[in-house]
Parts: sequence; C-alpha cells; structure tokens
Amino acid sequence: MKTMITGVQPTGNFTLGNYLGAIKNFVKLQKEHNSFIFIADLHGLTSYQEPKKIHDTILDLAATYLACGVDPKYTNFFVQSDVNEHSVLGFLVAFQCRVGELSRMTQYKSKKEKQGKDGIDLGLLIYPTLMAADILLYDAEIVPVGSDQKQHIEITRDIGERMNKRYGDMFKLPDYYVPEIGHKIMNLQNPNEKMSKSSPINDKGTIFILDDINNSKKKIMSAVTDSENKIYFDEEKKPGISNLISIYASITNKSIKDIEDKYKDSNYGTFKKDLADLLEKFILPIQEKYKKYRYNDELIKILHNGAIEAEKVASKKLLEVREKMGIKYDN
Ligand code: TYM
Repeated sequence: MKTMITGVQPTGNFTLGNYLGAIKNFVKLQKEHNSFIFIADLHGLTSYQEPKKIHDTILDLAATYLACGVDPKYTNFFVQSDVNEHSVLGFLVAFQCRVGELSRMTQYKSKKEKQGKDGIDLGLLIYPTLMAADILLYDAEIVPVGSDQKQHIEITRDIGERMNKRYGDMFKLPDYYVPEIGHKIMNLQNPNEKMSKSSPINDKGTIFILDDINNSKKKIMSAVTDSENKIYFDEEKKPGISNLISIYASITNKSIKDIEDKYKDSNYGTFKKDLADLLEKFILPIQEKYKKYRYNDELIKILHNGAIEAEKVASKKLLEVREKMGIKYDN
C-alpha cells in the first residue's frame, strides 16, 4: 500500500476550493492507502493570527474534516504541532536548501509583495522546507492538493533526492495528485484570482463550507460572468462561467461536456439557480455532521490517537535521518 498525506492550514474558514482541490480526493483514496491527514497549524503561524482564533480554527477544521468524510478508521488524523518530528526534520531540511531556490517559489514571491516594506517573515521563506518535512517523514508517495501546491511538491522531491544522494537513501519521493476538474477554483467575484480563505474580496467571492447556506447561494447567484449568456467552458474567454461549470462538475462528478449539453439552451440565471440548489444539497449534510463532531469529546481523542500513530512512523524516520546525517552519536 502506498502512503498518502495532505494538510490544510488553520488560517481561516475552510473553503469550497479546499474541499474540491484536496480533501475530496483524499477522502476518495483514503481506504486504498496508508493515509495521513493533518492540520498544518505550524504553517498557519507564518502570518500572525490571534492565538484564540487559531485554537478555535484548529477544532473547526478538525470537525470539518470528519464531516467531509475523513475516517479515522482508515486515516491517521492529527495536528502537525502535536508531532514534534515535523519541526525537527523541517529544521534539518532547511539546512539542505539555498536561499535562492526558496526565494524563487511562486507563493513566496507573491506573499512577499503583499508583506512589503517592513521586511518579510522568515517563516514565509522556509514554508516549503517544513512542508517537505511533513511529506518526507512518512515516505508519502501521493499528495492530494490543488494546483497551487504543485511547486511545493516538486521542491519536496528535489530536496528528498538531494538528501538521498548526500546521505544515502532515506526518503521516498512524492507525487502530487491534482484533480483534472476542481484543481483551482476561482474567486466568484474575480474569476482570474484563486478562491482563497483570505482575500480582500472574499466575502462575496469565496464559498465557506460552514457559512449560512443562503449566503452561499446568494454568492453563486451574484457570481461574475460575461454578457454572452451561453453556457460553455472556455477558461480564457469566459472565466466566470467556466469556474461555475467546474464547481458543478466537481460536486456532481459529471463531465464538463455533459453539463454543456444539459444547459445548451439555458441562460445563466437558470444554471446558477441549479448550481445554488446543488450546493445546498451538498453542503447541508456536511454542516449537520460538523455540528455533531465539533463539540463532542471524541474529537480531541481522535486527534490525540492520530498523533500517537503518526509519531510512531515519524520518530522512526527521524532516527534514520539522524543516523544517516551523523548526528546520532550513541548508536
Ligand atoms: P492551504 O490551507 O492553503 O490549502 C489546503 C488545500 O486546498 C487547496 N486549495 C485549493 N484547491 C482548489 N481551488 C482553490 N481555490 C484552492 N485553495 C486551496 C490547496 O492546494 C491545498 O491542497 N501548504 C498547504 C498545507 C500543507 C500541506 C503539507 C499540504 C502543509 N504541509 C503537506 C500537503 C502536504 C496549503 O496550501 O494549505
């Protein structure tokens, strides 16, 4: 069985993009893999958040994972900072990297621009080294993510390969698992920008899974489209409607062609109304399950057990790494 891992940062509310880009596939594949999923709270610290807010978001996210179908029977489910090996390997990995390669990462470059004049947090630069550690620690071969994370998986491979060459084989090299449809859900108000947890226009452009469903339906109804009023997929010329078609296709597992055929004589209003109704059918059961898990003592137990299981694997790997690097003197 191959090992699979993924994570989400607790930096805001879980979005439809997070679900369709990464978690949906993780859930689909969890039984056929040796599966690990975690809440990337250390990565979440790369930009300052109020401690109370992070605390609550971790638990919200944990309950949301379960509501979306992450099943602790098949999956080791934990919080990143509960397994110290992530931080230690992250540190060792950082020493294998050059400032130049890290500062060429797309995410670093775009966030650096936003952070601007008062200097840039070191955490942003070494974000990929911690992420590489998250993956290499478990010898994960499959990482379900949205397309914005491809570059991070690629650098993880590079770092893993580099360390294997330098110190002797110790890591398996991962591949990303990026869905064909839903790999990059766009902002509903600006379909040229990714839908994200934290965007200045996110209130109207982002669907949050736990938000009031009527609010989310309104966001679909007022999504920016174009004036042609014809429903077909063309990301370049019709990014707004193409984004809505992708969401429709990903939620229903229908092909884009089937959706185009179904709506070839319809207008945007009808299509949006159908999509809003579909979204309601998809989201309401998740919200119901979320309520069941969020304030249940089981939630913390699941996370603690997951951390114990994850640590068994991670500590073995870290020991092997230390031995190969020569920093385990008492063996
Ligand atoms: P985060 O929290 O930014 O995103 C979590 C996952 O959601 C995907 N995603 C999207 N997919 C499609 N459309 C969108 N609009 C969209 N927005 C977000 C992201 O691609 C991601 O898969 N760095 C990771 C967290 C992480 C991680 C890891 C993931 C830390 N360590 C190790 C995998 C393995 C991140 O971006 O989280």
